[in-house]
Amino acid sequence: MSSTQTKRPTIGVFDSGFGGLTVLRALLPLIPGAEYHYLGDTARLPYGAKSQQTIARYALSSAAFLLEQRIDMLVVACNTASALALEDLTRALPIPVIGVIAPGTTAAAAATAKTLKGMGVPRLASETWASSPASILVLATAATVQSAAYTRSCAALGLAAYEKACPLLVPLVEEGWTDHPVTEQVARIYLSEALAEAPTVTTLLLGCTHYPLLKPLLERTLADLNHPLHIIDSAAATAHAAARILSAPPSNLPVTTHFYATDSIEKFQRLGSNFLGQPLDQVTLIDLGG
Ligand code: DGL
Repeated sequence: MSSTQTKRPTIGVFDSGFGGLTVLRALLPLIPGAEYHYLGDTARLPYGAKSQQTIARYALSSAAFLLEQRIDMLVVACNTASALALEDLTRALPIPVIGVIAPGTTAAAAATAKTLKGMGVPRLASETWASSPASILVLATAATVQSAAYTRSCAALGLAAYEKACPLLVPLVEEGWTDHPVTEQVARIYLSEALAEAPTVTTLLLGCTHYPLLKPLLERTLADLNHPLHIIDSAAATAHAAARILSAPPSNLPVTTHFYATDSIEKFQRLGSNFLGQPLDQVTLIDLGG
């Protein structure tokens, strides 16, 4: 590289599968001159039904692979890995690590504060959150909900959250059933149950990489249930947080993307393009062990 060229930032993005490509999609226009390495640990997906120890082990081995690609920053695009392995990753890696929970919660809190203000409800002090009615509904995997990471993150911002595990939604999205009567029926059941438990919510935070693809279906279902909610997904908020943390000067080099998957390249390309919003030409198969 000549001395007149600035070193471009190299960013690692990791998810259990292709869902995290929505975060990469949000990053591309924000940090355009960067080199991206995206890893989808598709062989070990779903993370959302596994234990903390297993998720941390998978996340650490995925991060180790990305470190070998000489990344300057790791974006953990997976909600489940962010909820259960972010501390392990931050401790183990010598580079900045950013997850999706804090940025997503901050965006949801801002939306909620606006709605509550519009309704004339004062913002609650953080000490009172536990006894206050929930204003944020978080839909996520079973492991994420069990970790209560979103509840803690909302509490730190003075807001109460109600978390609902929706284990059937990931396989339905993986099947490509993002606009299917079966998915609508499943979403209706989950949302009805959640709204019965937390009728005061005003914001819906999509706490799983796959759920942004269900946004139109969720909006429709909420309208049918007569309970419209402000829907937030963490992809854009996470990309903005990453751009703020990355101190590298803007590069005028063209963006470079490298994709890695631990299972079927064909499936990664087929499903991943829905998440990225563009074709995935080159995907490299890698083996991270069991
Ligand atoms: N990426 C996961 C998440 O955002 C969903 C898929 C999985 O369970 O691995 O929680």
